Amino acid sequence: MLIFDRQVALREHLESISDSKTTIGFVPTMGALHQGHLSLLAESLKNNTFSVVSIFVNPTQFNNADDLAKYPRTLAIDVEKIKSVSDKIIVFAPQVTDLYENGAISQHFDFDGLEHQMEGKFRSGHFDGVGTIVKRLFEIVKPSKAYFGEKDFQQLQIVKKMVEKYHLPVTIIGCAIFREPNGLAMSSRNERLSAEERQEAGILYQILQEAKVKFGTKSAGFISRWVGKELEKHPNFKLEYFQIAYETTLLPCVRKTESKKYRAFIAVFVNNIRLIDTISLN
Ligand code: PAJ
Repeated sequence: MLIFDRQVALREHLESISDSKTTIGFVPTMGALHQGHLSLLAESLKNNTFSVVSIFVNPTQFNNADDLAKYPRTLAIDVEKIKSVSDKIIVFAPQVTDLYENGAISQHFDFDGLEHQMEGKFRSGHFDGVGTIVKRLFEIVKPSKAYFGEKDFQQLQIVKKMVEKYHLPVTIIGCAIFREPNGLAMSSRNERLSAEERQEAGILYQILQEAKVKFGTKSAGFISRWVGKELEKHPNFKLEYFQIAYETTLLPCVRKTESKKYRAFIAVFVNNIRLIDTISLN
């Protein structure tokens, strides 16, 4: 399996194997890979001539220094997991200085307001960091298709917006959320939960599923209050936000309209570990 740690070497290799018919599928990640990441890779492998996965803990998208320091870095294990999917996958695992030559600084983006909702409200500068790194990675890998999980639905919508605004020649594919047996959305941060917390965290998905049922007859406000009360039954779990929003604008749902698509979004702290999840409501 080929592993590159420099963008120049990766670029040279991709140019040497590409012709006009080649399609490159790309899965950007921050490593500590789990089945969710691997499902994106499997999708890319199925639909492209070559597949590239990047493993890079991007400093500019962390608004919390402790979270960045504690983010798991497990390259050797990640490489083994990638090999178990296919040894044809090309790995790009650069150092910070290779991608940020002039220091880890974000470009500022206007994502038509998508960046001000939910994660954007609670993680200041986060989406400028995501936009900066994803755009840079697209410029290096030049993928035909790039795969992103619906787990980070706001990120998925923002990347689509960036592609549209900057006319980037790539198709963004959204992929379903991969879950643990108790329903907890797979996440690199789950590794930091105790066994009991991880088990109990299955309630997030149960709450989202219940919210979906209630959405048939109840208002968004009613459901939000209900979610708040449900979480009070779990003192280790601190609700940061629960929001029902339109899928396209991510603006909060004020009054339901039949023709619009809605989603529920939740962010919860378990001790210092932040978990997010989302579900389509209609
Ligand atoms: P990371 O959290 O490593 O996630 C990489 C990709 O895997 C994202 O598209 C994410 O939505 C997807 N993913 C994570 N958990 C998933 C799950 N349970 N099921 C399906 N897909 C899942 O997201 C990032 O990294 C970064 O912001 C990045 C885009 C790499 C930019 O730094």
